[in-house]
Amino acid sequence: MNNLGKNKQLILSKHPTGLTEIDDFEVREVEVPEISDGEILIQTHYVGVDAALRLIVRDSDEFLFRVQPGDIIHANVAGKVIASNNSEYNVGEFVNGSLGVQNFAISDGSDLEKCNTDLAPLGSWLGGFGVSGLTAYFALFDECKPQPGQTVLVTGAAGAVGSMAGQLAKLAGARVIGTTSSAKKCKWLIDELGYDVAINYNDHDWIEQLEKESPNRINIIFDNTGGVVMNESLKLIAMHGVVLLCGSTSQYTEDKMDGPSNYIWLGSMRARLQGFVIFDYIDRYPEARENMSKWINSGLLKIPEYCCEGDIDDFPETFRKLFEGENLGKMLLKLSNI
Ligand SMILES: NC(=O)c1ccc[n+]([C@@H]2O[C@H](COP(=O)([O-])OP(=O)(O)OC[C@H]3O[C@@H](n4cnc5c(N)ncnc54)[C@H](OP(=O)(O)O)[C@@H]3O)[C@@H](O)[C@H]2O)c1
Repeated sequence: MNNLGKNKQLILSKHPTGLTEIDDFEVREVEVPEISDGEILIQTHYVGVDAALRLIVRDSDEFLFRVQPGDIIHANVAGKVIASNNSEYNVGEFVNGSLGVQNFAISDGSDLEKCNTDLAPLGSWLGGFGVSGLTAYFALFDECKPQPGQTVLVTGAAGAVGSMAGQLAKLAGARVIGTTSSAKKCKWLIDELGYDVAINYNDHDWIEQLEKESPNRINIIFDNTGGVVMNESLKLIAMHGVVLLCGSTSQYTEDKMDGPSNYIWLGSMRARLQGFVIFDYIDRYPEARENMSKWINSGLLKIPEYCCEGDIDDFPETFRKLFEGENLGKMLLKLSNI
């Protein structure tokens, strides 16, 4: 495989504090590995840029998955099989898996999913048609069960998960409110994704806006961000409401993570705070994709993506842009040398 050049791998050089800096990462060049019996070689086409990465590069023992200085940066990638010693995989097939930020990866196939690009373009298998969309689907339909006419609040509404959750809640007949960081993103949520209301949490009166838009209180808080937005919205939870703890992006960059002080409203409103991990639903991914395909084909569901083109070296800057809120939908890094 010498004609492939070198394999660039992105390594964590030190644990970040606050927003990640370019020098928290370094690029290592190694030989493209040779495959053994049962293995396949995958060339990366797209790298998924996931908010959760900031959680696992923290200098902390609190989490199961960790990236330590010297380790390759975790990421879900989608790419093509370019060599195979495994009868389950043919050269030319597309796959995705947690293979890290690098140009080439070896796998025995057990940790991969095949990507049928007739169902969705390859990049979407990392976003709306991948874990982000599946998270929105199962967290909303199985855990929150929105009913027609109910009010659903999605925080981080313009992100990879949020942009799908809001659309799916609309399909369930709910009235959907989203929060995000700018007027431009609010307009996009309403014009492109059909949100009923979008609130810029940087507006000085955003809490009053949320109160005004929730006259019957909020049945479901689909929370991607935690922090002050989630905390304030708890005061508006409806009787028997659900607060779905999907993610806590606002806390991932904080030295000391903060929890919601307004939890007392959950008690008086007989509401529940519900944890969620998508991997519990792995056996049901095909069912979700079948439904999502139908909605995509009939124009009822969009797969929003924000694709940056570059090389492995460009991942740190792209990742920082995610936390600066540049993305509309799933942030992807498309490797330009393919
Ligand atoms: N439970 C699960 O199984 C599961 C699965 C996948 C993802 N997740 C979680 O879901 C959440 C969303 O993930 P994603 O991949 O869809 O990321 P994302 O929302 O596409 O990207 C991060 C977004 O977070 C917002 N943000 C950044 N800093 C913030 C802050 N200080 N306060 C509020 N918002 C901030 C930005 O949007 P604005 O411009 O709107 O601020 C940014 O675009 C993450 O917390 C992730 O860990 C959970």
